Amino acid sequence: MIVLGIESSCDECSAAVVEDGRNMLSNVIASQIEFHKPYSGVVPEIASRKHVEWIAGVVQEALDLADVTKDDIHGIAVTSRPGLVGSLLVGLSFVKGLSFALEKPFVSVDHIRAHLYAPHLEYDIEYPYLGVIASGGHTIICTVRSYDDIEILGTTIDDACGEAYDKVAKYFNWGYPGGPVIDRMAQTGNPKTFSFPLPSLHKGDHQYDVSYSGLKTAVINQLDQFWNGEDEKSDENIAASFQERAIDMLARKVAAALENTGLTRIVTGGGVAANTELRKKFSAIPNSETLFPSISLCTDNGAMIAGIGYHYLQNKGPSDYAESVFSRVEGFRRINQ
Ligand code: KG4
Ligand code: ZN
Repeated sequence: MIVLGIESSCDECSAAVVEDGRNMLSNVIASQIEFHKPYSGVVPEIASRKHVEWIAGVVQEALDLADVTKDDIHGIAVTSRPGLVGSLLVGLSFVKGLSFALEKPFVSVDHIRAHLYAPHLEYDIEYPYLGVIASGGHTIICTVRSYDDIEILGTTIDDACGEAYDKVAKYFNWGYPGGPVIDRMAQTGNPKTFSFPLPSLHKGDHQYDVSYSGLKTAVINQLDQFWNGEDEKSDENIAASFQERAIDMLARKVAAALENTGLTRIVTGGGVAANTELRKKFSAIPNSETLFPSISLCTDNGAMIAGIGYHYLQNKGPSDYAESVFSRVEGFRRINQ
């Protein structure tokens, strides 16, 4: 079964052709980064306009690269939540039109579940496992029992991990998006230059939650307070010290969740899954096996949408033309709630 997947929830306009939920025939990603760079963040109005301009061309390129025609595809999958409503609407409306014209079924899918599906495009992964989604919009630690059955163990109580990277980089004028920039700078920095605080979050029901707002504030406003008094207060040393704490916070929660749930596999998705330090720290957690998608499948892409869409089309059937878009995640159960 050949599925065309379309992703337009944020600033990546992407389309992919995937066979049987696994075999990637193409994955075209048109990034809008250059257009948002002057603002050091995604401007929703610009994002939806660019999607309108690009989507037809991106889809055609994905079909051409896969060497298939519109008639060869059996179904279409599209992100409908969560994300920027205007951007999501461009993708969903385009897909509804295409589905109607071609008389092919379409299914709307959840972007967060799709991020966790991304590594399944490359590896045979058995359920259950501990899932970690770390992106610009979300930081979620969860138990994953199937592509559709996800129970949230912990999440951020304020900023997402990638968002903290982006905001720190914006403040220091290091570039956009902040994640890859800080990751690169941190390679030559000394992480012991500043001992930024770890948040003291309440235990019990929310023991796996994380918080990035305090760390962000400390890096931006309280550098001197956490300086070791010896090493240079260089950009690289600030970046390395920030990254050390940002990733350590997540790795500690992941290690605790593994121990308490008895799970042994960690599967990570989302833009921050590309991070060098995160890959190192997660891989070092004892008695566990860690899987990451290739770098190009960490950030937003159409292949993960086509991949998970195949399973929805097979098992649940197509969506209705009345389907709409939603800015927030929904349908996730949170443990103890
Ligand atoms: O998954 P994604 O493409 O979009 C969302 O769904 O949010 O993730 C984008 C986020 C941005 O915040 C970006 O700074 C971050 O992922 N990111 C990274 C790295 N590469 C991308 N963060 C840390 N280290 C990286 N190497
Ligand atoms: Zn994403």
